[in-house]
Amino acid sequence: MTQQNLLLGQTFETRGNPFETPWQDAISINSAGAVLIENGHIRAVGDAETLRKKHPLAQMHDYGPHLICPGFVDAHVHYPQTAIIASWGKQLIDWLNTYTFPEETRFSDPEYAREIAARYLDLALGHGTTTMCSYATIHSESVDAFFHAAQDRKLRTVAGKTCMDRNAPEGLRDTAQSAYDDSKRLLNRWHGKARAQYAITPRFSPTSTPDQLAALGALWSEHPDCLMQTHLSEQLPEIEWVRGLFPQARDYLDTYEHHGLLGPMGVYGHAIHLTQREIDRLAETGAALVHCPTSNSFIGSGLMDVMGLAKRGIPLGLATDTGGGSSFSMLRTMAAAYEIAQLRGVALHPAQLMWLATAGSARSLHLQDNIGNLAPRFEADLTILDLASTPAIAQRSQRATDIWEALFPTIMMGDDRAIADVWIAGRKHMPK
Ligand code: GUN
Ligand code: ZN
Repeated sequence: MTQQNLLLGQTFETRGNPFETPWQDAISINSAGAVLIENGHIRAVGDAETLRKKHPLAQMHDYGPHLICPGFVDAHVHYPQTAIIASWGKQLIDWLNTYTFPEETRFSDPEYAREIAARYLDLALGHGTTTMCSYATIHSESVDAFFHAAQDRKLRTVAGKTCMDRNAPEGLRDTAQSAYDDSKRLLNRWHGKARAQYAITPRFSPTSTPDQLAALGALWSEHPDCLMQTHLSEQLPEIEWVRGLFPQARDYLDTYEHHGLLGPMGVYGHAIHLTQREIDRLAETGAALVHCPTSNSFIGSGLMDVMGLAKRGIPLGLATDTGGGSSFSMLRTMAAAYEIAQLRGVALHPAQLMWLATAGSARSLHLQDNIGNLAPRFEADLTILDLASTPAIAQRSQRATDIWEALFPTIMMGDDRAIADVWIAGRKHMPK
């Protein structure tokens, strides 16, 4: 008989989207819940008493008052920027030129790529993130390094070679043809292999010629089951730049659409300064947007209208945007999402924040049937949250009158100390 693991604790269960239905109907927390895991998948979720009686031979893991959640899903990161996170004093374009591009140049060395891929994944896991959708660099070896490191850790991941053929330094440019060829080779090597998914990855319109955008649009049309990830309308000077580079385009989104880079499998990071036409077109297409709140304040980009976009039915994910973002933690990222919504006059409920970091991000990556939910048949990637991980959090959470009030201090003040355990594909992760 195969080994069964039974995890006992408070369980975070998702039944719907708390932006579309009242959060009380969408999410429930069972204070005496249990999750039964078998063969890397969740087999049952229910009451602790019932599942214990039904599965007496399962190995028990009693997490007491801890919250058993789906593993966090970080829908937009740049793993190669791990070592330059928290770099001072620049806004987007200067930040790219001063810190990011010189660092990404170092990834021509496969040994360095392997070192940073391992470092990034271990940091992310330590913060309770079990799936991430990452940009690599222009170097194919940086994609291999990431997927090999993810495979070693049995993680479900998405990544792609970042393509740039202009406005980037020597050593960090490919061409339209080599971007197509390299991306195609990597896609054939990795897409669907074990838990890896390939994402076609033009960095953003300013660093791709129209020829390169068209070549990647053609590749996407040959592989419509792949995600396509890029950046959209992050900062005002960037949008002005795009206007100058693409004078014929109606707006920023149109620079992608015109080259075959808009579709339901498209995932667009930031999307802060959108026009009404862009919002309407995104809603029509079914493309996903990814909110990167720590990055948007750190780089000085602006306040995304999460509630307005959610109300339009646009799929939304949540992300650290490491290393433009200032944290590896999806808890810290939820806190920043809360703060940014407050600055727009909206209080996001903890159920909505947690949904964005799990099922919402999973849906933005079209992985909503695999991860992001504690339910039978889902892959068993779990994060166990200690809701009293520091004295400051513990004293506030102790005062709480319900579970949401008990969870909120961890969302606002929590970090890697709140991660009691992580399970990957049905196995407890042992930190290296
Ligand atoms: N736009 C284009 N490239 C990047 C990047 O690496 N980080 C962020 N935050 N925005 C970008
Ligand atoms: Zn980014």
